[in-house]
Amino acid sequence: MSGALQIENVEGGYEPGLPILRGASVSVAKGEIVALLGPNGAGKSTLVKAAAGLVPVWSGSVRLAGRDITRVPAHRMVHEGLGFVPQTENVFANLSVLENLQLASALIARSRRRELAEMFALFPDLDRQRKLAAGRLSGGQRQMLAVARALVASPSVLMLDEPSAGLSPKLVGVVFERLKAVRATGVTILLVEQNVKAALAIADRAVVLVEGRERLEGPAAELADDKRLAALYLGAAAEAH
Ligand SMILES: Nc1ncnc2c1ncn2[C@@H]1O[C@H](COP(=O)(O)OP(=O)(O)OP(=O)(O)O)[C@@H](O)[C@H]1O
Ligand SMILES: [Mg+2]
Repeated sequence: MSGALQIENVEGGYEPGLPILRGASVSVAKGEIVALLGPNGAGKSTLVKAAAGLVPVWSGSVRLAGRDITRVPAHRMVHEGLGFVPQTENVFANLSVLENLQLASALIARSRRRELAEMFALFPDLDRQRKLAAGRLSGGQRQMLAVARALVASPSVLMLDEPSAGLSPKLVGVVFERLKAVRATGVTILLVEQNVKAALAIADRAVVLVEGRERLEGPAAELADDKRLAALYLGAAAEAH
């Protein structure tokens, strides 16, 4: 299995002495969609932020196609080929769809830029609304714009933090269907999700994180029927009370 993204034994957190990630390991093979699941506060967002260079990694490593990118500063990650779509504030609300994409594009070396025409072909909704302010898009369209902004830099791996948050079930389906189309263009995907059912429906594999460490891992189709999955969520809920 060729590792597109390998996060190994990562310990880290926001404040020294207060570990959030406690030896977390997640690997994503080239061309896979892997869902990163787990109860609230498990450290899912922290893990992808750590991989993206936004949260300090104290020990362990992050490798992209075999290259060590641990502690590469966040603004350099796009040049390494790692894309990250944060959960919120992932577009400029006052700028138009086109301006959002042009701005993302302007920051990328020409040699690794994907053409905006390609983005508009991948996301026809955005094509139709090029001139609309991003803040006026529907939630699903705004997520697609955030994804398109990240794709402009030709990432080999794209990490997304809860792209389905706040969307109706129908829109979740639309957004996830576009993520499959993104994967079909050769992008490997690590998808953080609260929406377990929908995530398992599009993922090849899933990893369940609890208290900063992976607790369960396997093919998505098998985990969908695995009682241990629900138990891990229920266990965390019981501890919170
Ligand atoms: N900026 C921050 N500063 C300090 N602690 C934080 C910060 N962000 C998150 N935490 C803490 O880190 C832990 C893990 O949070 P994280 O957001 O990574 O969880 P999550 O799995 O993404 O949860 P959710 O499903 O609610 O998004 C929590 O205890 C949270 O309080
Ligand atoms: Mg989160």
